[in-house]
Amino acid sequence: MEAIGRVLVVVPTYNERDNLPMIAERIRAAVPEAHLLVADDNSPDGTGAVADGLAAADDHIHVLHRPGKQGLGAAYIAGFRWGLAEGYEVLVEMDADGSHQPEELPKLLEAVADGADLAIGSRWVPGGKVVDWPARREFLSRGANVYVRLMLGLPVRDATAGFRAYRAATLEKIGLSDVESQGYCFQVDLTLRTARDGLRVAEVPITFVERTIGTSKMSGRVVAEALWRVTLWGLTGLPRRLRRR
Ligand code: GDD
Ligand code: MN
Repeated sequence: MEAIGRVLVVVPTYNERDNLPMIAERIRAAVPEAHLLVADDNSPDGTGAVADGLAAADDHIHVLHRPGKQGLGAAYIAGFRWGLAEGYEVLVEMDADGSHQPEELPKLLEAVADGADLAIGSRWVPGGKVVDWPARREFLSRGANVYVRLMLGLPVRDATAGFRAYRAATLEKIGLSDVESQGYCFQVDLTLRTARDGLRVAEVPITFVERTIGTSKMSGRVVAEALWRVTLWGLTGLPRRLRRR
């Protein structure tokens, strides 16, 4: 196991006022050395001001204010850019609503220390779980992962997972400047890039707990974007995959 250097946990927020203090406190307790960056899309509920309050009281908390709702992927790219410019060596993705448990962060970071270029907190490997998800969400996630595996041939069980740790070197190698995914298919996009570049992906089982406060920002538009992009990536990558057989 190697030392992994400075860690930045990026948490995108859109209307998470009532979740943010709880998740910030749990992150700070679980990984005290790590820094937290809240990437807020000018939430109408005032999440940005709550984040500013937390940052004023704690030098390990930072806020990136974005002008408006531009999607989960766009928020992460802005957050990663900020973190890379500040010299962080590991960049973590995590939801603000408690679905990703900060107490499982050390497990993800350990996988990076053990050599992973990307560690994915996975719901769909043995030991992984989902608590309190409605049947249609579980169906959507499992279905999406089956489709992704068929279309892209990724050796990953949970390619849509939003709880992950990237080495800075991984993000620099795969490149962020030409990522077009706006919404949740950003997760699949970056998984595909990481695997294509021959980098090491590790899946760590986690327990995903459905939120109890606020609502999901998953929408028909998010699903549609994922569907057409994954289909397009699958079709354009097909000649290469067939050649490799
Ligand atoms: N800044 C910003 N802008 N944040 C956003 C946006 C946006 O447009 N959309 C969502 N978020 C934030 C939410 O505020 C939350 O902190 C986090 O991103 C996840 O959003 P949810 O709306 O709670 O996602 P979910 O629970 O439906 O989906 C989860 O599972 C998906 C796969 O099944 C997430 O973990 C996704 O990342 C994951 O792809
Ligand atoms: Mn959620």
